[in-house]
Amino acid sequence: MNILLERQSRKPIYLQIRDRISHLIKSGALKSGDRLPSIRALAESLQVNKLTIIEAYSVLEADGIVSARQGSGYFVNSLSLQSTKLESTFSPAQNVTILEPGKSSFYDMYTPLVQAKTQLGIINLGYGYPHPPKDINLIARRALRQENPDIFFSHDMPQGQLTLCKQIAQMLVQQGLEVFPENLIITNGSQQGLSLAINYYVKPGDWVIVEAPTYYGAISILENLGARIIGIPMTAEGINLELLEQYLHSHRPKLIYTISTFHNPTGLTTTQAHRQELLALAEKYECPILEDNAYEGLAFQPVPAPIKALDKNDLVIYLSTFSKTLMPGLRVGYMVVTGKHYQAIIERKLLHDLHTSSISQAIVSEYLASGHYRRHLSRLRTENLQSRNTMLQALEREFPDEARWTVPTGGLFLWVQLPDNIPIQTIRNEAFAQNVYLACGSAFFPDKQGYPAMRLTFCLPQEEIEQGISIVGKLLKKYISRGHERISNYQPLAHSI
Ligand SMILES: Cc1ncc(COP(=O)(O)O)c(C=O)c1O
Repeated sequence: MNILLERQSRKPIYLQIRDRISHLIKSGALKSGDRLPSIRALAESLQVNKLTIIEAYSVLEADGIVSARQGSGYFVNSLSLQSTKLESTFSPAQNVTILEPGKSSFYDMYTPLVQAKTQLGIINLGYGYPHPPKDINLIARRALRQENPDIFFSHDMPQGQLTLCKQIAQMLVQQGLEVFPENLIITNGSQQGLSLAINYYVKPGDWVIVEAPTYYGAISILENLGARIIGIPMTAEGINLELLEQYLHSHRPKLIYTISTFHNPTGLTTTQAHRQELLALAEKYECPILEDNAYEGLAFQPVPAPIKALDKNDLVIYLSTFSKTLMPGLRVGYMVVTGKHYQAIIERKLLHDLHTSSISQAIVSEYLASGHYRRHLSRLRTENLQSRNTMLQALEREFPDEARWTVPTGGLFLWVQLPDNIPIQTIRNEAFAQNVYLACGSAFFPDKQGYPAMRLTFCLPQEEIEQGISIVGKLLKKYISRGHERISNYQPLAHSI
């Protein structure tokens, strides 16, 4: 394959390769079904590292142009797959939500999702956890057989096992976040990290800024604490920075909660420039940031380093978890905390539960040590990317033209924005009667309203995605055609309170 590289160019080599291959496909020089050169062969002929080729192929895959086939390499996709709408069409109304202390029940939101997961025959489009790793028994047995079993028979340090902290620090360095093991705290899932950080920074009555929509587990902690919540709308680029500044200025909040990579529920990832601007605003108004990147490990293509990587003033707490990549039942998450905040958070962690389960930590540590985790992640990414593409195609085929959706480059979800006046709860009930479980968008807004939307997980078998989307698409079309008069004058729902 003839690819001329400009080694002095500021454009990264992997993107030059991606552009050239993409051009060869578009010009017809490479046809649907053609096999791309093997990673090794192309790396040798271009005299670049194999990782550069892997990155280029991963981006082509995320663009929907090629697909990996297990053990056989990368192939050019058929035109129908290539023409899948890969541009996000998401463009919601930009209304700010202000919520005085209230109490929604996290229990009421969380339990039906988990119950639906265990119900046989249900296509669960609402619940977002990965397929379990295949080698868990082997890894767990190895973890328990380790040289020093004493660690399981006594209490441990509140910050977590040093070996695991070192492994996570190394992993984060590869994601562009340079941290030391002494900056890490192993938590009982990232939910505990959220709770520790929020309770550290926020007191009852304080204003806190969240993205709207956002993860309802964080909203519930804030509500239960008696915080006053400002929901700043998400644009296709991330939180609306102009509105953010207005509210930082007028309300002097005590915390900004953000999910910068594979945002739950929209699946959006912010750019490097957006991250820099967000941090600059936080610095200007001296407002700490809680960055919750629970889905960071599930990227189909390279993502910018976390905001924490830009933080020179200990203004950002970063947290993540192994729940979305390994297993939620292990309950292992982690926080990166720098400066004086580290000791203060550890002391809180100690008061909560002394420390995170030593056995769970040992299992995660064994995964990281053995290289199984890296292989598992790469398998998950390939599976999830294929599932995402299947879902995008199904949406294009089955959903009404009025629906708009995001196109995530990783994570587990995408977000569908629907026309005003659509009876989303009725559709949800009717879908459930046909064995399809949906997560309504309202749960992700601080005021539990927002605009009509749904979060769809694509981490499902292909047949389930196609069947589920077809059922929901028919219901949407039925209700849209009934209310066509009103919907043709569609204005997204205003919901300022
Ligand atoms: C954004 C986000 N943060 C945190 C969590 C909590 O995850 P866990 O406590 O299992 O690590 C979730 C779970 O869905 C989430 O979506």
